[in-house]
Amino acid sequence: MPLVTTKQMLRDAQDGGYAVGAFNVENMEMVQAVAAAAEEQHSPAIMQTTPSTVKYADLKFFYENARTAAENASVPIAIHLDHGNSFDLAMRALRDGYTSIMIDGSHDSFEDNIEVSRSVVNACHPSGVPVEAELGKVGGKEDDLEGGDDNPYTDPAQAVEFVEKTGIDSLAVAIGTAHGIYKGEPKLDVDRLSEIRKVVDIPLVLHGTSGVPDATVRECVKRGICKVNYATDLRIAFTKGVTSVLNANPDTIDPKKYNAAGRDEVKKYVMQKMDVCGSVGKA
Ligand code: 13P
Repeated sequence: MPLVTTKQMLRDAQDGGYAVGAFNVENMEMVQAVAAAAEEQHSPAIMQTTPSTVKYADLKFFYENARTAAENASVPIAIHLDHGNSFDLAMRALRDGYTSIMIDGSHDSFEDNIEVSRSVVNACHPSGVPVEAELGKVGGKEDDLEGGDDNPYTDPAQAVEFVEKTGIDSLAVAIGTAHGIYKGEPKLDVDRLSEIRKVVDIPLVLHGTSGVPDATVRECVKRGICKVNYATDLRIAFTKGVTSVLNANPDTIDPKKYNAAGRDEVKKYVMQKMDVCGSVGKA
């Protein structure tokens, strides 16, 4: 089917008490892996690309890969700009056909975050493209930026004001997750998540989920998370597949051979996380 937006997909997840996995894709094989996993699990799926990924190739390159994968699939698939870091990049993604856009003004002041998020909403909504924004800061290494130690959690009262003033469709919350590899076991403020859920009625998004125990993710979904972002673990899975072939046969020169092994590992990983999100059988 054609690419869909995340609007109805996340509303359905919210109504149904499950989440949709959002998987960062960095090459064609990862796109294929996410689509194959979604098909096999009868699950909706979101593919997403960060600014550094679209710089590596091009927005259009990833859009066309995702579009082809979606059209070959019988389940709904969306292509989302993850951590859009400027109004300009968000507009380029909109023009190139992305069906969901994140503008991340969380590094700016509260007022500036509202302003840039509102501008992106105003530009995207006439085309029916939903917008995600972030309030508070998810820590760790985000895309190619160091997050630093100052990572304030999302304040529920501020979240109400932020959602009202921006008109966004989904809200990424900071409750103790971090992008990248965790040093110890992450401690999440799930009570804060419940507080936010009580006062904000749009779908909530969990970032930095690689390395978060599955039981904790399930708990977050129960408390209102509707979109769960996984990136680092897909890199690890892909690399594991590639290196297993190259270690076993160092003379391999056909990229199709080792990339296929990377693709298989990513597919396995994504299928399991769809189960954790509760989206299996929802498409
Ligand atoms: P991880 O790399 O920690 O899975 O974070 C993914 C993410 O939140 C992308 O926006």
